[in-house]
Amino acid sequence: MKIIHANDYAGMCRKAANIISAQIILFPNSVIGLATGSTPVGVYRQLIEWYRKDDLDFSTVHTVNLDEYCGISPDHPQSYRYYMNQNFFKDVNIPAGNTNLPNGLAEDFDMECTRYDHLISELGGIDLQLLGIGHNGHIGFNEPNEAYGKMTHRIQLKQSTVDANARFFEDSSQVPRYALTMGIRAIMQAQKIVMVANGEDKAEILYRAVYGPVTPSVPASIIQLHPDVTIVADTAALRKFPTET
Ligand code: PGA
Repeated sequence: MKIIHANDYAGMCRKAANIISAQIILFPNSVIGLATGSTPVGVYRQLIEWYRKDDLDFSTVHTVNLDEYCGISPDHPQSYRYYMNQNFFKDVNIPAGNTNLPNGLAEDFDMECTRYDHLISELGGIDLQLLGIGHNGHIGFNEPNEAYGKMTHRIQLKQSTVDANARFFEDSSQVPRYALTMGIRAIMQAQKIVMVANGEDKAEILYRAVYGPVTPSVPASIIQLHPDVTIVADTAALRKFPTET
């Protein structure tokens, strides 16, 4: 596992964007696994900037997002489809048909989860997966649990996640209680994982994910078992890490 230290949020975003950018320049047909949340916003902004400078071309890239809320439409401002369109897709030349998220409005969620897993397989798996980390250790919406959810599945969000995401909604009663999330298998089968984290409030969970036991009660801890993980984090989020990292 590589730990890349950035001085601040802007530095974290540039460094993570550099890794994604290198992947796309070297392998223009890459399948990139994308994440939502507040942490990656600046990463997307940076990639857009380089695209505008003609340093990046997304025309043959495919993307698969980690998750989507159940029950809200793609044009709802808090849906992850809307987030991705607004924060990234609309500003780069990725063909709309190359971008994929689970469908939170599917009539049959089991079928939708199976479709999503097949789609990832048909694309040949994920070349680089970008991950954030939730305050409770979730990756995607793989919430703390007694066992890992291997495949794409529907999950009931923990109250802590509802509370954490309430800031994006009018109030916490508006936060969907269920989501579809890519499972641990597709994440762990990605060729590379890049996890981004910033801020003091991520220090404890990031430390537990990297130095604690591998356990589904801290889902992100599974990445300790992945052969190619890069964590890009700022000084505040790395506060608990031993100084040699
Ligand atoms: P955040 O979310 O970037 O908004 O902190 C991270 C996550 O839940 O994965």
